[in-house]
Amino acid sequence: MSATEPRATTLDLVPDVAARVADAVKVYGVGATEVRALDHVTVDFPAARFTAVMGPSGSGKSTLMHCAAGLDTLSAGSAWIGGTELGTLNDRRLTLLRRERIGFVFQAFNLVPTLTVRENITLPLDLAGAAPDQAWLDSLIDVIGLGDRLHHRPGELSGGQQQRVAVARALAGRPQVVFADEPTGNLDSRTGGEVLGLLRRAVDEMGRCVVMVTHDPTAAGYADQALFLADGRLVDRMDAPTADRVLDRMKAFERRQS
Ligand SMILES: Nc1ncnc2c1ncn2[C@@H]1O[C@H](COP(=O)(O)OP(=O)(O)OP(=O)(O)O)[C@@H](O)[C@H]1O
Ligand SMILES: [Mg+2]
Repeated sequence: MSATEPRATTLDLVPDVAARVADAVKVYGVGATEVRALDHVTVDFPAARFTAVMGPSGSGKSTLMHCAAGLDTLSAGSAWIGGTELGTLNDRRLTLLRRERIGFVFQAFNLVPTLTVRENITLPLDLAGAAPDQAWLDSLIDVIGLGDRLHHRPGELSGGQQQRVAVARALAGRPQVVFADEPTGNLDSRTGGEVLGLLRRAVDEMGRCVVMVTHDPTAAGYADQALFLADGRLVDRMDAPTADRVLDRMKAFERRQS
């Protein structure tokens, strides 16, 4: 372990870091096909904070989310949820930790096609054998506006409707950390605004940590901090982002690229 790597004891003293990656490297493939999707990224995701992750297509955003959530493993470096380093867990303990503490909205939704909307939403709770908080579930279903579709299956829904189910599923168990990969990418601005409001509530009212990938400066404006990735590296960070400032930042970056 190098001097720069965090130790469990250090993180235990900093309980407000809900998730963290330290010196994270992720390499896909070998030799000529090697892709360095994450190139020494260190970032904290604080509790009770909403973080937007931005950057061009292929910059490593989804990879960062997957590795931070323990859905994929790093090639080097470490990923932490609270004071737990994910690399120290066996498969069973990692599955349990994910089930109990993490909600994930996949870029491709990943709904279970044979389950109804309601069953998809309560799936994480059912797997954990936990009783749902009915009032919270009702308010989720209300916000996503699919109360009349609860007994439909994902194949019978539009892309935007499936995305809303995926957001409700990630929030159903009120996990400590919610990773959402472009959760508003398929939504109109009104529905998108409602989903963003829901994520904001999880942060403000429940003290949860929300990490959201987005290409949309307006969506990033809901966050407390915005991180910018390029070529697998963290290239900038903005506190209290507004849509205008994020847009300016993106334009400046595009000018530099061209
Ligand atoms: N399973 C994989 N095998 C090989 N390369 C991969 C794999 N997954 C991702 N990559 C590569 O890693 C890099 C980062 O991919 P990633 O999906 O993290 O990008 P992203 O920022 O989420 O992009 P987008 O905005 O298009 O979703 C890309 O060059 C991609 O081609
Ligand atoms: Mg992606």
